[in-house]
This record gives sequence, structure tokens and C-alpha cells, in this order.
Amino acid sequence: MTIQLLSIQNIDQLYEKAFSILKEQQNTGAKNFGLATGGTMIPLYKYIRNSALDFSHCNSVNLDEYVGLPKSHPQSYFSFMRKHLFNTKPFGITYLPNGETANPEEEAKRYETTLKSLEIDLQLLGVGENGHIGFNEPGTSFTSETHVVTLTNSTRKANARFFHTIDDVPRKAITMGIASIMRAKQILLIAVGAKKRPAIQALLHGEITEMIPVTVLKKHGNVIVLTDLGFKNTNHDD
Ligand code: F6R
Repeated sequence: MTIQLLSIQNIDQLYEKAFSILKEQQNTGAKNFGLATGGTMIPLYKYIRNSALDFSHCNSVNLDEYVGLPKSHPQSYFSFMRKHLFNTKPFGITYLPNGETANPEEEAKRYETTLKSLEIDLQLLGVGENGHIGFNEPGTSFTSETHVVTLTNSTRKANARFFHTIDDVPRKAITMGIASIMRAKQILLIAVGAKKRPAIQALLHGEITEMIPVTVLKKHGNVIVLTDLGFKNTNHDD
């Protein structure tokens, strides 16, 4: 029930630390890396791109993908991952839900079957302002596996910065479920910026509740939270 909190206010040092955790995992034999998209991950992926790390013998598994955006759309997570990481640092096999599918429900099932055939050694997570992890919005069951979600207005608004207008933000996505995420051996959550404070406050000091999905991580046992929010460096035991 322990969350290791690493509070680092200097952003460069924070990402250097995230990079060193990843590197350490790789050095000690990690093979399957769970990856995330979003603004929080961009500096970390830049760090990796500029490093000598080689992931060609590792596999990557992404958390989520929009439904209905062509892979070639610059805001598809397929394109995001290519641009920020895979074009420079190819992985052996890269798994992402197929957002172009005509049958998203089937695709979610297929992705979950793939996930069950792998063991994710380290899962990277960002967190939404409303506490979502992956695209598991408030109210998602902690027993959920990969599924199709309707994005909340708050998430669509938060992501509108990457699109021309909010109307261009897709309304649906396929996401690993909370139970799927919790199967990872270790989780590294990165939360940067004041907008993430309520979610991290809830994780560190609040009740475990499906209304704030990130609080499920208290049940995991091997979670590192890396943040610039100035919370006290400590190990949080329930
Ligand atoms: C992305 C993902 C999301 C983001 C979250 C934070 O794959 O699953 O949960 O991690 O929305 O996004 P940013 O980093 O843009 O604040």
C-alpha cells in the first residue's frame, strides 16, 4: 500500500529523474513498457530521444487511442507516439488500440486479450485534472478492463488545445481499463503543473473512490509519483 512520492520542483531535474527510473528498469531487465501520451510525456520522450537508450529489444503498450481519427491525423496517439518517440527510438513491438476500427467494442476486447498475454514491467501514467488515468473518467469501475469511453466535456476541453476547435476533439476513445492498468508490476505517475494539484492531493490524502480514478493507485503497492507540486517527499502508507 505504499506510494513513493518524489517531489522535485525543478522541471529539468524532474524529467531527468523520470528518465533515470526508466533507464534503471531497462537495465534490470524490464521488457514491456506501458506508455502514455499527453503534454506531460513530451519532455520525457525528448529526453529518451536524445539518449543512448535502445528499446529495440523491448515492447511498448499504449494506454489509449481516440476513436474515429485516422492514424495519419497529427493528433491521433498513433501519430503522437511516432513523432515523439518511435521514429527515433523504435521498440520491438508497439501495441496501440486501433482507433480506425469499424467496431470499437471488438477492438477493445482484442486489445485486452493482447494485454493479458504480456506483463507490463513499468507503466507510465499522466493524470487528468479530474483524476482520470488513461481515459478512465470519474465513475469508471475499478474492475474495468479495456473499453470504449465517451469523453467528458472537461477532458475534451483540456485536450482542445491540441486541435483547431473543441468540435474537432473526438467524442470517444478506447482505453485500457483500471484493472488492466493495475496489473502492471510498477507504475510511474508524473503530475506537473498546478491544474493537477486536486488529483494528487486526493491520491495522497483522500479516500479511495471511483469518482477520482487516480486514487485506485493506493491499492497498488509499487507506485512512484513524480511531481513538481511541492508535496513533501515521503512514503505514503495507508
Ligand atoms: C494519455 C492519457 C491521459 C493523460 C492525461 C494528462 O495517454 O492516458 O490520461 O495522461 O489526460 O494529459 P496531459 O499530460 O496532457 O496533461
